[in-house]
Amino acid sequence: MSGLTQIAIETRGLSYNYPDRTAALADINIAVKKGGFTGILGSNGSGKTTMLRCVDGLIRNFGGTVLIEGRDVKKLSPREIYSRMGLVFQNPDDQLFAGTLWEDVAFGPTNMGFASNEIDRRVKAALADVELDGLAGKSIQHLSFGQKKRACIAGLLAMGHGILLLDEPTAGLDPMGEYRMMRLLAKLNRENGTTILMATHSVDLVPLFLDELIILSRGQVHRHGSPEDVFTAPEEMAGVKLRLPQIAELIHELKHKDNIPFDRLPLTVGEARREIIRKMGILT
Ligand SMILES: Nc1ncnc2c1ncn2[C@@H]1O[C@H](COP(=O)(O)OP(=O)(O)OP(=O)(O)O)[C@@H](O)[C@H]1O
Ligand SMILES: [Mg+2]
Repeated sequence: MSGLTQIAIETRGLSYNYPDRTAALADINIAVKKGGFTGILGSNGSGKTTMLRCVDGLIRNFGGTVLIEGRDVKKLSPREIYSRMGLVFQNPDDQLFAGTLWEDVAFGPTNMGFASNEIDRRVKAALADVELDGLAGKSIQHLSFGQKKRACIAGLLAMGHGILLLDEPTAGLDPMGEYRMMRLLAKLNRENGTTILMATHSVDLVPLFLDELIILSRGQVHRHGSPEDVFTAPEEMAGVKLRLPQIAELIHELKHKDNIPFDRLPLTVGEARREIIRKMGILT
């Protein structure tokens, strides 16, 4: 495979000012590998939604270039974009429109021209994946906020895109729902090879699941790398209005306030447990 086809999403000098002259994005250069699972982490107003809307071609008059599988998004028709890539909006009310849950999830595969038994199969599987299978006939407007978020994701799953863009997919879900959503996305990524780019401010969840993180601050990339590389000192995170995952915060305090000489900053409970046991001298 050539180098080009290995990159699913690339931005070169991506910049965007809203009509009221808000500078939302400035010179964003990122590359998401095919099959990658990347998070855009940033505080409110840092530019996450704007960036996803540019990548998805919803905003087209941006500066710079966005390439989807090597093709300039400005030169792709909406149909060409939607056949490769789906975007789950931050606010489910902007996305859902049909009468019932079943109708909403069936809309995409119907539009793609699948036969009715294939549509049924896809809708059933997608609703089961997001654990809404008991609610297929329910009116969209009577779903709870968390159920609406999951309904949006089911709508995209039923289309089976190779690239998924998700704007805060776990916001508004209960703690177990957040965890399950991330587990579902990780499974799609691992088993189906779906490339995922998702915006989030959930610093505690992301290191458990994502390969790469882009920290966005005031429309610029502050850091880009593995969660281990990106999460640094609490002071630096505070500078971009974020914090460390709580587990890393604890180890950082033990290191700097209690002088326990941890070599690295664990990001998950499992890693922290191993480091603590090692420091206690129980393991050599
Ligand atoms: N339609 C708009 N017109 C003018 N300014 C906008 C518009 N939409 C967003 N902005 C501004 O652009 C900047 C980036 O907003 P954006 O919605 O991309 O941030 P975000 O990182 O998604 O934030 P959040 O975490 O709150 O969803 C903000 O300063 C915001 O006020
Ligand atoms: Mg947003």
